[in-house]
Order: sequence, then C-alpha cells, then structure tokens
Amino acid sequence: MRYQFPENFMWGGASSGPQSEGGSCEGRKAPNEWDYWFSINPERFYNNVGPSRTSDFYHKYKEYIKMMKEAGVKSYRTSIQWSRVILNREGEVNPEGIQFYHKVIDALREAGIEPMLCLHHFDLPYYWVEKGGFENRDIVEAYTHFASVCFQEFGKKVTYWTTFNEPIIIPETGYFYQRHYPAVCDAQRAVNVGYHIQLSSSCAVREFKRLGMPGKIGIVINLTPSYCENPQDEKDVQASKTVDLIFNRSFLDPSVLGVYPKELKELLDSENLTVPVKEGDLDIIRQNTVDYLGVNYYHPRRVKARVTPFEGPLMPDKYFEPYTFAGQKMNTSRGWEIYEPAVYDIAMNIKENYGNLPWYISENGMGIMDEEQFMDAEGMVQDDYRIEFIKGHLKYLHKAIEEGANCFGYHLWAPFDCWSWSNAYKNRYGLLRVDITDGCKITMKKSGKWFYTLSDTNGFDE
Ligand code: BG6
Repeated sequence: MRYQFPENFMWGGASSGPQSEGGSCEGRKAPNEWDYWFSINPERFYNNVGPSRTSDFYHKYKEYIKMMKEAGVKSYRTSIQWSRVILNREGEVNPEGIQFYHKVIDALREAGIEPMLCLHHFDLPYYWVEKGGFENRDIVEAYTHFASVCFQEFGKKVTYWTTFNEPIIIPETGYFYQRHYPAVCDAQRAVNVGYHIQLSSSCAVREFKRLGMPGKIGIVINLTPSYCENPQDEKDVQASKTVDLIFNRSFLDPSVLGVYPKELKELLDSENLTVPVKEGDLDIIRQNTVDYLGVNYYHPRRVKARVTPFEGPLMPDKYFEPYTFAGQKMNTSRGWEIYEPAVYDIAMNIKENYGNLPWYISENGMGIMDEEQFMDAEGMVQDDYRIEFIKGHLKYLHKAIEEGANCFGYHLWAPFDCWSWSNAYKNRYGLLRVDITDGCKITMKKSGKWFYTLSDTNGFDE
C-alpha cells in the first residue's frame, strides 16, 4: 500500500540550540542553567559530557545544513539560545549572537530548508536562574523582551515561530522529578513556574501580534496520552483524566483555547496550591492563543488508580500509578514504550476538542545506545529499526489525516545526533551520525537515505 501525504506536507527535523551548537563559551554567550549545572555537578551527565561539546553546529552549521538537505530535511526547527542573544538581566543584546543566527537562517534558506525557530528549549540563562528563574514574575517581561528582539531581528526571514518547547517539562523535571536544575521537589514552586511560563508564552504571542509580524506563532507541547489499565474501572478512568489534566491540558488548554481547565483549578485548590495570577493576566492568556501547535510524541503513559498509599512530598504520582503489561513494545535503550496508535488518538483529540487547529508532529524519534554496533563495513549505521519506527507512526498519522486531521508536517527528532541533556550522547537519534570522538564528523545513516526518498516522494510504500 502507498501512504501518500498531502501536497506541501512539511518533512523535516528538530533539534535545539543547547543540544546542537556547542561553543557555549564563545561569541560572548552568557552561561545558561546547563553550563552552570555541569560546572557544579558534572557527574550527573553521562560520561561527563557537558553542554560545551554538543555536536559543534556553532562552527559546522554549513556542513550540517548541506548534510540535512541530503537526508531530505526540508524544514528544520532549532531554538535560539536566550543566553546567546541577551547578555544580562538588563536585556543587553549580543550582536555576535544575533549574527550567528542570521547566518544560520540564511544558510538554511539558501539550502531550501524552511527555518522554524523556538524561543525556549529548557535553556534558561544563568543570570535568571540565580534570581529564581520562572519562579520570579519579573522573568515574564524579560522573556517578552528577548522574544521581541528575535521577532524584530529575524521576523522577515522566518515564518514559523514557537514560544516554548515542552513547557511542562520545566516544572515536571526541575521541580518534581529532579532531572533538570534546580532538581527540587516542591509543588507550590512548580505551580508558580508553570504559570509564569504560560504567561510568558501568551505575552510573546501578544508581542508578535503587536509588532504585526507576518509569520505564525505556535507552541510545542509534548502530548503524552494516558491510557488506563481498566477502562471499566471508574477509579482508573479518573486517574488517567487527572494525569491528562496535569501533564497535557495544563499548557494545551490555555495555549490553544485561552483558558485553564476548571478541573485543574479544583485540583490545585484541593491541595491548597495557589496560582500567582495578577489582575489582567487571564485576559492576556484568553486573547493570545497560538496560530498552530507543535506536538512532540514519544511514548504513551500507562496509568491506574493508586493501589499503594502515596508517601512523601506532594507530586503528581499521588493521583496515579504506572503499570506495565506483557508484550509491551519497548525501546529498551531509552526505556520508553513504542505505541504508534497514540498518534491517531492525539490527532482526533485535537480535531474534536481543540478546534482542529493546524498542527504538526514537531518531534518523534528513537534514541538508541551504542549505534556503532549497527555499522556496516563502510561505516554506515544500518538503522532499520529507526525506519520501522518512523513508518509505524506515519501510518497512523496518514489514517488521521484521511479522517480530517489538520496536520501539516512531520519532524523527526533529530536530523543529526545531538546532546540529550544529562543523558549526553548515550542515545543517538539522528538520520546523520555525529562522531564526537572525531571532530564531530558527520556521516549519513541508512535512515537518512530512506528519509530523503520519503520527503522527495511525499510518502512511502509498504
Ligand atoms: C524531547 C525534547 O522531550 O525529547 C528534546 O524536546 C529531547 O530536547 C528529546 O532531547 C529526546 O529525549 P532524550 O531525553 O532522550 O534526549
């Protein structure tokens, strides 16, 4: 069967500034939270590989862009590092940082690759970290200033903008699960952070409109559908609804519909958590919804009602327990379940509950350990597993589009191997291999050749 996608479907890839650029002390870039965290806790990073050694896109961007083109990447989302563009809390602009991103955008355009720019991908400048980061309301204005500088500098060359990548990850992993800095567990601080991020995003949308920018502005949300163990059991169903509320709807609803779900407010009230809303904030959120949505999808969440008592400081886990089942298809390298039908469920949810606004898969991908083992005699990684992974998800996306989903593209994470935060280079995601032991030499993988044909012919046969 042929899986043919709509005309002008965007086939591309996603990465981010902090995960690809390297050069973290060059071009007057200010330190960000990752530079700082690595400086005090290098042991928290796989093989002690920190943010200064990330794939060297800073120096080799022309080569990467050439190779991405050869791998069929026709659109590319990366992020502008706030700490490269704005030098301090006073908002001083760094001309060297601005120049770098101009050069990247121009090189992408010359190669016929559509640039898509994100304004925040987990990379808070350290000068804000030391003032409480997103816990501090002053950051809303500072972020809006940074966004405004970027819109005015690059807005004539860039059509697709993104305010935040996976905003929930910041409170989730920094203020509950301790995988990002400041690695604390504090529900009230998490709520403050989450709220200020949403307000910052809405203020950036407002600024985009105020400036009359010609492009479109969206947000990238990691939608992780929750499936309960027993759909006949009311408690299991409720657990999955609560998980959906916390991890998906907390940013999806205000960003797309302009309002927070009332059930979320009830949940926070029941835990005596307060949201630091000031007069006028909710109008800003209501009036500044996004033009389009990016959806990052990697794995589902399997939940059931708690059977063991919850102990310890308040966390989302108070409301659910995970479950596993025999035959679960896993990517054992990353420890994530592979469940392709979720793509269809996400698409139908957006169609039915979010006005079928335009959206695209902004990230989907498979991180694999020790990929050298799959190299053939010529040194090409034979990553058939990645091709199968992509196909499996695209089949469900194709079905959803046939049923009216308003999806305009598919971006793989990632076009080239890049740095995975504290996992550093443990798992490789790219269509292109990057050898960090050999000057970041870039080579094509089998999936890169396959992706070229996919994007060139706008579909695949199976
Ligand atoms: C997404 C992020 O959640 O998943 C990326 O936007 C991240 O920044 C990607 O790298 C893959 O996850 P990980 O943890 O394996 O790098």
